[in-house]
Amino acid sequence: MNQTKITNRPPNHAIIEAKAKETGFTMPSDIYIGTLLKTLIASKPQSNILELGTGASLSLSWMVDGLDTDSRLTSIDNDPALIQMASEFFRNDPRITLICRDGSEWIQNYEGEGFDLIFADAWPGKYSETEEILALVKPGGFYVIDDMMPQPNWPEGHQDNVDRLITYLESRQDFTLTKMEWSTGVILMTKKA
Ligand SMILES: C[S@@+](CC[C@H](N)C(=O)[O-])C[C@H]1O[C@@H](n2cnc3c(N)ncnc32)[C@H](O)[C@@H]1O
Repeated sequence: MNQTKITNRPPNHAIIEAKAKETGFTMPSDIYIGTLLKTLIASKPQSNILELGTGASLSLSWMVDGLDTDSRLTSIDNDPALIQMASEFFRNDPRITLICRDGSEWIQNYEGEGFDLIFADAWPGKYSETEEILALVKPGGFYVIDDMMPQPNWPEGHQDNVDRLITYLESRQDFTLTKMEWSTGVILMTKKA
């Protein structure tokens, strides 16, 4: 098996990738987490999906590619330029809601239904509001994070944050957890039904 050969890229992935490079976006999600998200989302028809950290829309393009016609996806970023960029690609898709807001504020104020999959790719919902975000995962739903293995862009001391987070996640008896030394280091959790 050639793990590095990915053949099922979303139709708009190449153009989004080019735009991300052109704008100098420095934190793109890789194609491996993309394929995983797409595959997990495809297992959840009529689902409600959340992404924290829209960024350059790279992971979003994969997630949307796994979404069926009756599902909805909300993606949040606090950078207006990135939300504007995402809207150029996804504004005509009625399944997608893009929100420009601080993720912590959004999590603390959200009162809607739970989510079948949450990809937490920003500080909020990962290193802060962790308990609150896990409460928003539906039974049988997925919580996904990456960048768990050392990355060149980590600030000094970030390994301590990662270690604390992993210890907390592993302590949660209401979830099963899988750690993958693959992509940038992925943790996949499912809330027990
Ligand atoms: C790792 S990047 C996301 C990459 C994205 N998934 C992609 O594929 O391009 C993290 C993103 O979180 C956003 N972010 C940082 N702090 C935030 C906050 N407090 N609330 C919401 N978004 C935040 C940043 O603007 C950045 O776009």
